[in-house]
Order: sequence, then structure tokens, then C-alpha cells
Amino acid sequence: MQLDDALGLIAEVPDFPEPGVLFRDLSPLFADAGAFKAVTDALAETLPSGVEALAGVEARGFLLAAAVGYARGLGVVLIRKPGKLPAVAGRVDYALEYGTATVELPAGVVRPGQRIAILDDVLATGGTVAATGKLLEDAGAVVDSVSVVLELAALGGREVLAARKVHALQVC
Ligand code: PRP
Repeated sequence: MQLDDALGLIAEVPDFPEPGVLFRDLSPLFADAGAFKAVTDALAETLPSGVEALAGVEARGFLLAAAVGYARGLGVVLIRKPGKLPAVAGRVDYALEYGTATVELPAGVVRPGQRIAILDDVLATGGTVAATGKLLEDAGAVVDSVSVVLELAALGGREVLAARKVHALQVC
């Protein structure tokens, strides 16, 4: 499947999870074998050769980081929502497009100087990726770049992440 056709499977859901928010649902894309492969391959191509590991953000970022990690022979650092990890290396609270959230880094999975690319499905306000970048850097890693399927430009994530290299397969 062509990448454009794959991206065309992303559904727009008005007023979810609350009134006024236009939710982008990647479920149909993930469920289609050809679309999932096209997006995985396109994300894999955004990664420079020096990347040593991927960070995937719970939950949809896990799918993409796992698939791209397999394709490129890279391990995946799981960036988790709170209360899931037995041992935590760090925790960052942040504001989301709707509500607040926290991300946590498992203890002992990142080594100082390790070059890591962050993967997620959607870049909206940039809060999630900014918090993930801080978590990784606090642990001594080097954040190489950020790759997402969809960037919602009006929400200003790229400006929040001004100091980072951001790759988006689609900007709307
Ligand atoms: C969504 C999305 C990104 C984040 C983007 O995650 O998957 O991680 O929001 O928003 P931001 O740029 O404004 O931070 P969500 O919290 O809905 O979690 P999910 O993947 O578990 O559905």
C-alpha cells in the first residue's frame, strides 16, 4: 500500500474525549496489514544511522516503536503512564491537550550517552514528547530526533519542541 493511502485510513472523531476536541483515531491504520507496513517502513526511513534505541510512548507509540525497532534491529525503551513500573528511573508531569498526564521511565534501561529516537503516533501540543525527551535526558541519554505519524500543526507541538529534529509523515 502507498503511504498516502495508509494515512487516509486515519479517522477523525469529533468531540472525543471531550467537546471541542477532534480526535485522530489510528485504529483502522493499525488494523490494516498493508497500511501498518507502509507507515512502519516510512517511520524507519526517518531514522539516521546513529540511532541506538527507540523510545515508544504508551500506548499507541508502543506499536510503532516495536514495529520500527524490529525493522531496524533496535530495542525499545517503554515510556509508561504512571503506576505500571516496579522500579522507576524518572517521572515527568505535563499538560496535555485535554487534562494532565505523567510519563515514567523504567529503571536500568537507558545508558548514559545512548542515542535514542522518540516514536509516537500523534504530535499535538508536544507535551508528551517534551516530557519524554526530558525523562531520557535526565537519565543521561541523547535524544536524536522525534518521529510521528501525524502532526497537528495548529496545536504548536513543533514550536514546543523547537530544539529537536521532528519528522512527521503527515502534517495537518
Ligand atoms: C496521545 C498520543 C500522544 C499524545 C499527543 O496519547 O498518542 O502520545 O496524546 O499529545 P500531545 O502532543 O498534546 O502531548 P494518549 O495520551 O491519548 O494515549 P494513548 O496512546 O494511550 O491513547
